[in-house]
Amino acid sequence: MADRDTWVSSLGFVLASVGSAAGLGNVWRFPWLTAENGGSAFLVVYLLVVVGVGVPGLLAEFVLGRRGRQTPIGAFRSLIGSKWGSALGAFNVVTTLAILSFYSVVGGWILRYTLASPTGAYFAQPQQYFGAMGFGPAAVGFHLAFLGIVAGIVFFGVDRGIERVSKVMLPAIAVLLVGLAAWTATQPGTAAGYEYYLRFDAGYLAANLPSVLGPAAGQALFALSAVAGTLLTYASYIDDDTSLPRDTLAIAISNTFVGVLAGLVVIPLLFSQGVDPGGGGPGALFVALAGAFGSLPGGPVVATAFFGTVLLAAVTSGISLLEVPVATLVDTYGVPRRRATLLVSLLLAVTGGALALSNGAFQFVSGTLADLLLSIGLLAFLAVAGWLLPTDSVAEFRTGAGRFAPLAGSWIAIVGWVLPTVVLFSLTSSVAPLVGATLGLGGRAL
Ligand code: PFF
Repeated sequence: MADRDTWVSSLGFVLASVGSAAGLGNVWRFPWLTAENGGSAFLVVYLLVVVGVGVPGLLAEFVLGRRGRQTPIGAFRSLIGSKWGSALGAFNVVTTLAILSFYSVVGGWILRYTLASPTGAYFAQPQQYFGAMGFGPAAVGFHLAFLGIVAGIVFFGVDRGIERVSKVMLPAIAVLLVGLAAWTATQPGTAAGYEYYLRFDAGYLAANLPSVLGPAAGQALFALSAVAGTLLTYASYIDDDTSLPRDTLAIAISNTFVGVLAGLVVIPLLFSQGVDPGGGGPGALFVALAGAFGSLPGGPVVATAFFGTVLLAAVTSGISLLEVPVATLVDTYGVPRRRATLLVSLLLAVTGGALALSNGAFQFVSGTLADLLLSIGLLAFLAVAGWLLPTDSVAEFRTGAGRFAPLAGSWIAIVGWVLPTVVLFSLTSSVAPLVGATLGLGGRAL
């Protein structure tokens, strides 16, 4: 495939991947999860889970992406060499379409908050655009607008669209988050928030460790964008010399950094306004924060900066999701990219539009369906990387400066044995409502 798109630089690949990873799941689910589960003691467990589960899982996806050199259908077909490969790839395409259908509805809600922030139009009634109240014709309109932004980027391809935009948006997200966190630190009444968010409650964690591990593993994988096929597709555009373990670590660290920073904004601000973040779920926390902006000094400016940051994070995740079906049409069916972008966007306009009208359908797709697809996808990735192609996987793992070569054996053991066990364990316990709960939109959470 001589004329396939490629990244202009390794940095572009890393930034676009962090853009995919750092999204809605990080910005408001992660702080909530940490605060609810023992503060910084949970953070330690989460970091261990990111290193022990998230990083090896993500690396498996990158390895398969670069080895397969195509979008999921072609990649798995050439890797496994049978109809099963195509079926597995098609499964990834369906997964990304399902996730983007509801992600775009949420992106639309965020867009609406961002646009309404300068005038504070929602300050008195912060829940009016979101969750249970967020369905209807206006939600369809904002979903289409969000999808339009995402499609407008993917339309221009990997280097001129996705990479170029990521190189601007990711630094912007980092600067805005650091600025917001610094501003938060100057606000009165935030001390209790820091205390709540960062307290080291080892006792709580020790008592609840088994029930916390499943959600932590699920959050780590979803927040890293692992196993939906998006990062496999991104990895299919990189050159052979890039060290995959090194880039995986860089992505995991940056992604965690975004989540931790978001927490340093969200939790203390809520406390400064006398809002207790406990109990109501991450969606309730999000609405409470929107309401809190109304009483903060410079509220409209801070609200615009905050929702603008969340919007950028959602857009960079959205483009990675759209890239999978679009690039599949390009790679596997020879459709020109621009036409492919239009075709897939039309389909998503309809599927997302339907979800923007129906709370019940939204709950089903964002909760049960997406979760099921991701869990099965994960097992399939692990089976291919750890069982079917261990030798090829290790070869990919060793590229770059070779510094990580001594770890190859342990990595294969983790991918082939430890991770499948964790997934099966999580599936039977707490990962079932993962995706909906990740966004705080599952039935119980709102
Ligand atoms: N990682 C994104 C988030 O945390 O919001 C969500 C996501 C994007 C999951 C892309 C999966 C994916 F393929």
